[in-house]
Amino acid sequence: MSNPPKAAITGWPVTHSRSPMVHGYWLQKYGIEGSYGRVAVDPVEAKNFYKNFAESGLTGGNVTVPHKELAAACCDELDDAAKAMGACNTLWLAEDGRLMGANTDGIGFLGNLDQFAPGWDKQAGTAVVLGAGGAARAIIWSLLSRGLKTVHIVNRTLEKAQDLAEQFGSSTIAQPWDKLGDLIGTADILINTTALGMTGKPPLEIDLSDLPKTALVTDAVYSPLKTDLLRQAEERGNPVVDGLGMLLHQAVPGFERWFGIKPVVDDELRALIIADL
Ligand code: ATR
Repeated sequence: MSNPPKAAITGWPVTHSRSPMVHGYWLQKYGIEGSYGRVAVDPVEAKNFYKNFAESGLTGGNVTVPHKELAAACCDELDDAAKAMGACNTLWLAEDGRLMGANTDGIGFLGNLDQFAPGWDKQAGTAVVLGAGGAARAIIWSLLSRGLKTVHIVNRTLEKAQDLAEQFGSSTIAQPWDKLGDLIGTADILINTTALGMTGKPPLEIDLSDLPKTALVTDAVYSPLKTDLLRQAEERGNPVVDGLGMLLHQAVPGFERWFGIKPVVDDELRALIIADL
């Protein structure tokens, strides 16, 4: 009989990751014999670790900073999202021993909106995305996969927004931060992907006066759960979705791959993580 599947969050450091809590909840809920732990991978050892992943004893796992790009480079095969990101957050060993990599951040973003704002993409033509880092890349990729016509990428450092716009093509437009006031009136969906508004970081200062009342507002920040952006948007009657579901939904494909059951993101899991924020 084969050993139970063994997965882990890998990165440096891994002590703050909430992934073990998420997967531990599902393992228990579905009564699965398997485990999900933490493996700290020293940057000096990282290439060797991912290149020889099978030797770690893991059958799969997640990858967090700073190893997402390196892990992707060590995989034998990547899914389309990981290819587009040049980074992966989910790994598994194929039956023939090859290392497979996926990037599920975009799936997490879409899963969250589909759960809490079903049908959001039916009328959405224009997105305004704040930020141009790794989270923005995954989110823009997923927005385009749902057929949004125009994605404005608004970033403090214009060059980074331009790099993304170049990668994603003519539906994406790089915009300097001071253009935000002119753009906000065109948004069907407004997304903060920067760390602004996170506990311990500076606030996101934004004037929502011109934002259409029907525009959906969401935030990749989930600590605090209700950011100032979401609070302001809610007060003026906009639909809002917090960022916690992105974290939870990005974990779904990995769990299904390693343990064979597609898990449900339920209220009990949300409550468990919220209690830990
Ligand atoms: P992640 O992978 O989580 O997206 P990241 O790659 O470090 O993290 O990107 C962080 C994003 O937040 C960037 O768009 C960054 O803007 P710059 O490209 O100009 O650095 C944005 N950001 C972080 N701190 C900011 C601040 N004080 N004001 C404006 N934008 C900020």
